[in-house]
Amino acid sequence: MSPYAHITGWGMAVPERVMTNDDLAKLVDTSDEWIQSRTGIQQRHIASDEESTASLAVQASLNALEVAGLHPNDLNLIICSTSSPEHIFPATACLVQDRIGATNAGAFDLLAACTGFIFALNMGAQAIRSGSVRNVLVIGAETLSRLVDWTDRNTCVLFGDGAGAFVLQAGPQRSGVLSAVMRSDGSGGDLLNLPAGGSRLPASEETVKQRLHYIQMNGREVFRFATRVMAQATEQVVQAANLTLQDIDLIVPHQANQRIIEASLRSLKISMDRCVINLERYGNTSTASIPIATCEAIQNGRLKAGDKVVFVGFGAGLTWGAALVQWGGPFPGVRQVLPFRFRLYARFRSLARRILRRLDALVLGRYREDL
Ligand code: UT7
Repeated sequence: MSPYAHITGWGMAVPERVMTNDDLAKLVDTSDEWIQSRTGIQQRHIASDEESTASLAVQASLNALEVAGLHPNDLNLIICSTSSPEHIFPATACLVQDRIGATNAGAFDLLAACTGFIFALNMGAQAIRSGSVRNVLVIGAETLSRLVDWTDRNTCVLFGDGAGAFVLQAGPQRSGVLSAVMRSDGSGGDLLNLPAGGSRLPASEETVKQRLHYIQMNGREVFRFATRVMAQATEQVVQAANLTLQDIDLIVPHQANQRIIEASLRSLKISMDRCVINLERYGNTSTASIPIATCEAIQNGRLKAGDKVVFVGFGAGLTWGAALVQWGGPFPGVRQVLPFRFRLYARFRSLARRILRRLDALVLGRYREDL
């Protein structure tokens, strides 16, 4: 029988720096009243110059490994979902792999915007279901503050920075990720995009002048799309697991806008007390919003072992999707993981590998000249 993908660890990380709506009102023509009434957001966390998508991802990952009691070198696969990677390449997942010392893991990035964490969770779970890997780290990490136009009030009030991570482990019991729905509609790609910096419009003086390296969005259209697909995907994922909406204990939706969440739940006839919302403190952290909200739900005792939880999201692409999970916890007999020690060890190992690579090139280089 195929193993199931159990979620045995979880972790989050957000920058220390907080930006309130009043702080934003000093930058653009907006107000705390407008932002709160239209979105529900009160503040967001913004990365410092020393922080980046990878640094937040590393912190969240080590926290998740600590909960699972899994050493980084036990990991077989790392999937990092992000729309604000450190570079176009190498993948941010590879930087995380190096910095946590996950010496036995393949690592790659996945881009499905705000739906990314759900897609990554499903891909990690399917890799486990296939029997090809046993331990997977799934990360959602963003520093969208680096891609936001701080002169555009339509977008800059919405986003925040942060990261969340889950550890997935193979187990025989029918639990963990039970079903998932993944959908996309590229015809709506222009509704939320970052036009330049890729192969279509490489960076040039002109693209910079035209501010094409910032997020552009048709908020109203994204809003309409979101309220429609959130309810649809929730119904589909529940059906796919042969359950009904009444069986669901908790919904953790993508934290973009309180009004979107309320409208979706209204159409599903689900009361708000079965839903996790924390966007008032973090804003929209894109692909990180679902794991961050999950970590807080566990901390507050709202999500417990045995509960059935639906993760549901939407985003640029357009993309949308949902995953239904029977919540578990760390496997029994977990080992103690000391994140600080692993971080130090990984840094030393990475440095040693760089030095060895140089030496190798030096020796091989001479050898070639000798021939
Ligand atoms: O993860 C996916 C990311 N994207 C989203 O989730 C976005 C989904 N869309 C939304 O959340 C909402 O559409 C927004 C919050 C972006 C906007 O709310 P809205 O109720 O749809 O407002 P609107 O776009 O219809 O704009 C209403 C007015 C406009 O003024 P006029 O044209 O009526 O005079 C805007 O210019 O509000 C104005 N406005 C603002 N005013 C103060 C837009 N942004 C702001 C602002 N402060 N920050």
